[in-house]
Amino acid sequence: MPLFAANRYKGKLIVVEGIDGSGKSTQISLLSQWLRSKGIAVAFSEWNSSPLVRETTRRGKKKEMFTPSTFSLIHATDFADRLERYIVPLMKAGAVVCADRYAYTAFGRDVVRGVSRSWVRNLYRFAVRPNVAFYFRVPLDVALGRILGGRDAIKYYEAGMDLGLSRDIEESFRIFQGRIIDEYEAMIPEMGFHVIDATGSIEDQQEQMRQIVIAEFGESLATGVLHVKESGNAETGASILR
Ligand SMILES: Nc1ncnc2c1ncn2[C@@H]1O[C@H](COP(=O)(O)OP(=O)(O)O)[C@@H](O)[C@H]1O
Ligand SMILES: [Mg+2]
Repeated sequence: MPLFAANRYKGKLIVVEGIDGSGKSTQISLLSQWLRSKGIAVAFSEWNSSPLVRETTRRGKKKEMFTPSTFSLIHATDFADRLERYIVPLMKAGAVVCADRYAYTAFGRDVVRGVSRSWVRNLYRFAVRPNVAFYFRVPLDVALGRILGGRDAIKYYEAGMDLGLSRDIEESFRIFQGRIIDEYEAMIPEMGFHVIDATGSIEDQQEQMRQIVIAEFGESLATGVLHVKESGNAETGASILR
């Protein structure tokens, strides 16, 4: 059975993956600005953003009431909701959807939390296969330095504190995120990630991403398939562009 469903829609799906502090959000935001500047309809999608389950996840996290499999199922529910209500309709309309984390995040995180690799892959089989998936490879120290430089504390779940790996939050972050890195690294050949050296400058990484996108979408970028319609459909164009 193939891992994901093929993208049968007019639009495209671009995904960024990597541990916290690897620079995903910075890069996908720059990439989407660039695509928009070319007149392409672009939409954003974030992990854990569906109103349907956000509140449940928040409450459950607080009380530590989920097992690894229930956590995984809740995230998959959230993802399914977002895919069906938001990502797929936008792709049907011909937009480029830029996703900040995708099913691969579950393949890394949920496995480190204790569910089996094949079980979680099977769970997400309904997901649409991305046209391009970038993986931002970064050493732990660099990621940690960026997180601590940008705000003053590591988040409890980001450090995997609930797993009891260490009482020291920084040490726990290293162990937990280190294991997630191992999962991502093992996924590279399996998933066909485009690996970006995330220690490079913001500009260099962005340039590499644009070259990869041009190589993948060259024809549709040139023929205007992904472009916002100039007339006749202004309303749809505007809502896609938000
Ligand atoms: N190439 C880079 N070099 C130095 N700092 C960076 C780089 N890319 C991102 N940052 C900074 O690192 C922090 C984390 O970046 P962010 O894009 O939020 O990462 P992520 O979304 O992967 O957690 C931010 O403060 C950001 O400005
Ligand atoms: Mg981010």
